[in-house]
Amino acid sequence: MAAQAMLTTVEHVDEEGSFLFTVADDYGVKEEVILVPCEDGVEAWHNRCTHEDFRLDRGFGVIYREGEIVCAKHGSTFDTCSGFCDNGDAKDTTLPHVEVACEDGDVVLVDENYTFLHEGGIDDGDDGDGGMPGSTSSIGF
Ligand code: FES
Repeated sequence: MAAQAMLTTVEHVDEEGSFLFTVADDYGVKEEVILVPCEDGVEAWHNRCTHEDFRLDRGFGVIYREGEIVCAKHGSTFDTCSGFCDNGDAKDTTLPHVEVACEDGDVVLVDENYTFLHEGGIDDGDDGDGGMPGSTSSIGF
């Protein structure tokens, strides 16, 4: 069972629009996760479009249109609260969900299937490679 980990604050996600971080499952397989604002706080989804495994946050924040996450490759959009897509190439799919909780304004990873590794994308955790800094911003339309 993975330990809980403090990720960021709800205020930070609201201000920046998204927060990218990396987790590992029980087999050590790394996964990128995005935190996005939702009506009731924040939700966390895998950072991969369900159509072609394309990163929704490519290191520059999530793209939004009318409150939905936009896949930059073919334009499908995903509801920030449900992860569901009702349009385009990814129609009728849902982003895989990661459990987080909001506690006194902090966002905490509570998903038993994942262990927090670091802020930013998978490549941001490499030592000394000069990779991209952690993504904490978003792009709106
Ligand atoms: S890769 Fe996202 S809609 Fe095609």
